[in-house]
Amino acid sequence: MVVGLRFLWGTATSAHQVEGNNAGSDWWDYEQRGLLREPSGLACDFWNRWQSDIDLMVELGYNAFRYSVEWARVEPVEGEFAEDVLNRYLEMTLYMRERGIEPVVTLHHFTNPHWFLQKGGWELEGNIHCFERFVSKVAAMLTPHVRFWVTINEPMVYGFGGYANGMWPPMKKDFGLAKVVIGSLLRAHAKAYQLLHDARSDVLVSIAKHVRLIEPSRSWHPGDRLAARLQDYYANAAVLDALHTGVYLKQVIPGLKGSWDYIGLNYYTRGQVQFAWNRLSGFGQDVSPTGEVNALGWEVYPQGLYQVLQRLKAFSKPVIITENGICAREDEQRVRYLDTHLKAVMDAIQSGVDVQGYLYWSFMDNFEWAEGFEPRFGLVDVDYYTQERKPRPSAWHFSELGKRFGTLSHQTGTDEHSL
Ligand code: FCB
Repeated sequence: MVVGLRFLWGTATSAHQVEGNNAGSDWWDYEQRGLLREPSGLACDFWNRWQSDIDLMVELGYNAFRYSVEWARVEPVEGEFAEDVLNRYLEMTLYMRERGIEPVVTLHHFTNPHWFLQKGGWELEGNIHCFERFVSKVAAMLTPHVRFWVTINEPMVYGFGGYANGMWPPMKKDFGLAKVVIGSLLRAHAKAYQLLHDARSDVLVSIAKHVRLIEPSRSWHPGDRLAARLQDYYANAAVLDALHTGVYLKQVIPGLKGSWDYIGLNYYTRGQVQFAWNRLSGFGQDVSPTGEVNALGWEVYPQGLYQVLQRLKAFSKPVIITENGICAREDEQRVRYLDTHLKAVMDAIQSGVDVQGYLYWSFMDNFEWAEGFEPRFGLVDVDYYTQERKPRPSAWHFSELGKRFGTLSHQTGTDEHSL
């Protein structure tokens, strides 16, 4: 199948992080109960400002935008769909299309309707049908206009954050439960993959897989090597292999095998691990990076993106980078980050990796989950008091890189989209 479209060049967001007043979601409930650092509140008020934000993307010369449809808003009460909300998502999508912005739509990005969590959320396989009902509704409305889909954002990160390290709702600490939840998300993905393809045969569907390069801190140390292997297996390989083989931790998941038309890759950083007597952490603990870090202390490691892309070659699928970005105190650091990471992408393309898109996280500053509003990931600065947007120099730099990147990737043949 040949897409014959441009290289996707744009940015990513998720509903809860930007829309504001996502009052029906489980995150909102935990925020209101004071269990998280700060409430998301109005966030970036994207729910009301989407039109001018899309105009700004157009002005900046981007050609794609990844956003999510918020289940809690679409179905605030179990079984009752809010038609006005669905219509707004449709209006938003059509607006993008008309202006040359390719929509990339995520169906689950960490948040759930409050009612869904109340009935056991992803801990119970019997609840998956609720998500299917939501997907069918969205698919009927948006598939005529949307080809690129992400079913589930980072199932591992969600499972670990909510159920193993307990930093995120529902704040449980049970490794076994985390595995059950991840299994349910993969089942839900397989169902959503089918539903989207039933609605339109040429949709392109994947999950967004967070892949952190994980390396032993001391390459000669057998304990560090073992810990790195185990962590890599649980965090990275288990889900990638599951999509390839249909088997997740020895369970066969119906419809999962091969249920990705491209690989959605979220890459941020590298972890270096040392052996530790702690089964819950996969017998390893991260050592603090010694090199450059972002504002949250994550190592800036562009070579890791190159290495991860090499690794994905094994699956013989086109790759879309569905997230890559930095929270920085100084925008110059973001400019450097873009240069080095996009160089890594270009090198990977030249070495034969079929990369077909790059979506920077994030279009604008937003609500960074447990970390609140402090980390600034945006190409566009948001003043949370006035909601004023100001593109940073990096936003324009990204436009310039896009022009060069488009030409270069054409020379290497990636305009021949093989999706
Ligand atoms: C990713 C999430 C995204 C954002 C970035 C910084 O893991 O998918 O929502 O928080 O990290």
